[in-house]
Amino acid sequence: MIRAKILGLGSYVPDRVVPNDEIPFLDDQHVRQDAQQTETSDEWIRARTGIQERRYVPNDGEWRTSDLGVEAAKRAIADAGLEPKDIDCIILGTLSPDIHFPGTAVFVQDKLGIAGEDGCACYDIRQQCSGFVYGMEMADAFIRTGKYEKILLIGAELHSHSLDYTTRGRDIMVLFGDGAGAMVIGKTETDDEKEGVLYTHAQADGSGAMNLYLKVFDIGHKPYVFYDAKDREQNEIMYPQMVGKRVFLHAVRNMVVATNRALEKTGLTWDDIDWFVPHQANLRINEQVVQYAEIPPEKALNSIMFYGNTTAATVPLTIDHWRKEGKVKKGDMILSTVFGSGFTWGATVFRL
Ligand code: ACO
Repeated sequence: MIRAKILGLGSYVPDRVVPNDEIPFLDDQHVRQDAQQTETSDEWIRARTGIQERRYVPNDGEWRTSDLGVEAAKRAIADAGLEPKDIDCIILGTLSPDIHFPGTAVFVQDKLGIAGEDGCACYDIRQQCSGFVYGMEMADAFIRTGKYEKILLIGAELHSHSLDYTTRGRDIMVLFGDGAGAMVIGKTETDDEKEGVLYTHAQADGSGAMNLYLKVFDIGHKPYVFYDAKDREQNEIMYPQMVGKRVFLHAVRNMVVATNRALEKTGLTWDDIDWFVPHQANLRINEQVVQYAEIPPEKALNSIMFYGNTTAATVPLTIDHWRKEGKVKKGDMILSTVFGSGFTWGATVFRL
């Protein structure tokens, strides 16, 4: 029986580290021109979110989300012992695409040097913080049906160009960082149900859509992009909006349910699972999920302290971070649960 299997893993974050202490002194150019400091503090950010620092791309106008995705992809492909030409499908999750259209996966394909008339299929998916699990569900289904054999699954985000660095945007701005993670997913022919990708499950509740969103444009308007300076000054158009407390409550509730369901459907217990890797939106969310789902705390892996929330990238980035630290090893069993804008959420269980 054909099953999906993780062949390679990679991640990439920019070199520039932005500690919480620097946040009050940032603006759109990342160099404050005025004397006005943003009202926030290292103490507040650590206590409410667990974040200590995040990464931003260099402020040189040269970086796009696809550039971050390509770096993570190259590492995942090398980790799989493959070359870019071996990839027959790219699935890319992002909420910060290079441009409105086409999608970002085609730019990654081109930058990997595998575009052209024989170019592979490229999918962009738009499930924000749930992008990794949604992408895993697609990859798993494609592999099982034999449609593709070597799928590159990427989560990549460039947030630092689209945040409101003033006090008005502080609740969201402090959360996000730039980064990318990638996996190569291939096939294995085994009847062992504890090998490869064991389980994927994805859900959504569209009634929560406007609890966390970014407009940039509105297709209901003519023109649909806002050229008028007066419109552009409106916070709602230019920057992400969030009802933080609602998102927090829904995240905890749905991640707990999704985690328990994953155990029930696979018949596994925490004795069978090496690591719980939740989406990295807020350390407090993850601590509550661990508590309510009765997960052994030593099995929970977080990386939000170092990278903030990198949305679709957080899961592969966290796994790769702890693999580099020597904690996670090839062959470990991982249960990952995510929640994001939409609302969207889901879970997956796989052997690395
Ligand atoms: N620095 C200092 N003070 C701040 C900041 C800041 N960065 N942000 C907000 N505050 C203030 C508020 O204005 C408020 O002040 P007030 O009491 O005078 O009104 C006070 O701090 C408390 O604010 P709350 O909103 O009650 O703080 P809370 O504990 O709820 O934390 C947070 C806010 C961190 C945003 C939290 O609600 C959260 O993490 N929500 C979920 C985020 C999330 O999961 N996002 C989903 C994933 S992202 C995706 O899918 C794209």
